[in-house]
Amino acid sequence: MSEPITYLEHWDRTDAFDPPAVLRKLSAEQPLSRMVYPDGHVGWLATGIDVVKQVLSNPAFSHNFHSAHFPLTKKGQPFPTMPIIPGLFIHMDPPGHTRYRAVLTGEFTTNRVAVLGERIEVAAVEQLTALRGLGSPADLVAGYVQPLCRRVLNDLLGVPDEGGAILARLSETANDDAVPVEDEFAASSDAFLYLRDRVEKERADPGDSMIGRLTAVPGLTDQEITNMLLVVFAAGLTTCEGALAATSLALLHHREQLEAFRAACANGAGVDNAVEELLRYTTVNQYLIFRTALTDVELGGHSIRAGDTVTISLPAANRDGSRFAHAELLDLSRDPSGHLAFGYGVHICLAQRLARRLLTVALRTLVTGLPGLALVVPIGEVRLRARTSVFSIHDLPVRW
Ligand code: HEM
Repeated sequence: MSEPITYLEHWDRTDAFDPPAVLRKLSAEQPLSRMVYPDGHVGWLATGIDVVKQVLSNPAFSHNFHSAHFPLTKKGQPFPTMPIIPGLFIHMDPPGHTRYRAVLTGEFTTNRVAVLGERIEVAAVEQLTALRGLGSPADLVAGYVQPLCRRVLNDLLGVPDEGGAILARLSETANDDAVPVEDEFAASSDAFLYLRDRVEKERADPGDSMIGRLTAVPGLTDQEITNMLLVVFAAGLTTCEGALAATSLALLHHREQLEAFRAACANGAGVDNAVEELLRYTTVNQYLIFRTALTDVELGGHSIRAGDTVTISLPAANRDGSRFAHAELLDLSRDPSGHLAFGYGVHICLAQRLARRLLTVALRTLVTGLPGLALVVPIGEVRLRARTSVFSIHDLPVRW
């Protein structure tokens, strides 16, 4: 095996759609590589789809913060280790993780998403009308993507718009690489206090909302519920905004695929498949997916030692040529099943059904409602959020 790579040297994403060159090269040539972490730990980087799936589905790999070495730094500072707090289930392992996840699964059933989906249809049409009201040209991110995603997340949790603005700071600070880590923590703290207040109110007088239903679950404390809600909101808003911006841009840049998408919307066939391919092609969770070995494990012909952290590149895995022919091409007619845009294993996206519905409705409403939609700037001038853990776009100037 060649020399360990230093992740930070190759961190920035310079292309709107492709993972950094080093990750693409590794995905093609070397599914598992040694990697030096910011704290000096020599761990691993997984870029091949089979190895990634093995790590994410093997209980020998932990998602616990305590055992991890952090693959990401912000402004050159190591990311601080956080304590394991009750309810912060995204960084727990089974059985603790299982308990919280099982409670929340009821919030994302087919029936629940069908009800939310009807409201998404209404919200998308209203936001498109608001975008038209801004006049052409306008910024698609500020004028459509953000307000729509925020509305859907607020509706899911059952919080009013003013509360949603406090929660949205979470996404704004996490999504801006110019914001210091301290500001992110301040936004988390404000969001926690706001949500705890909502939980206390709903416990006293439960309504028909996610928060109200969680307060009715026997044995869950207010602190646990507040942290569960924080996880849902934080994991949901940044990814939805990033994915809707990136998939919109992908369609606007690939005009023949845009026309194929419009045709699929018109005849009602192939839209779901097209959204899957857009998810694969854009894979927005670009950094900060990692697991740490609890025991020695054999993986892809290598010996992983207990304590080794393995960073996962989902964008690289989704460009693995052994699974997806001409993986670098956006092809809405291909079979993209088995892509890892929502992760894999016990932490696979809890809300993938809702996320798919949101993307489908939002993209369909946009491209059918604005037949002349086009980018105003060359693709190379679109301002990318290249360093954030979830890839996104600052602004997207469009005309129609
Ligand atoms: C297109 C949009 C989305 C994408 C691409 C996405 C992607 C992901 C990925 C890759 C993971 C796995 C993380 C890991 O293994 O470390 C994940 C987990 C999660 N996602 Fe999503 N997500 C999206 C939308 C949402 C939404 C809308 C919500 C909530 C409303 C949500 C809530 C969660 C939660 C709670 C987890 C943690 C699950 C667990 O630890 O068991 N996601 N998501």
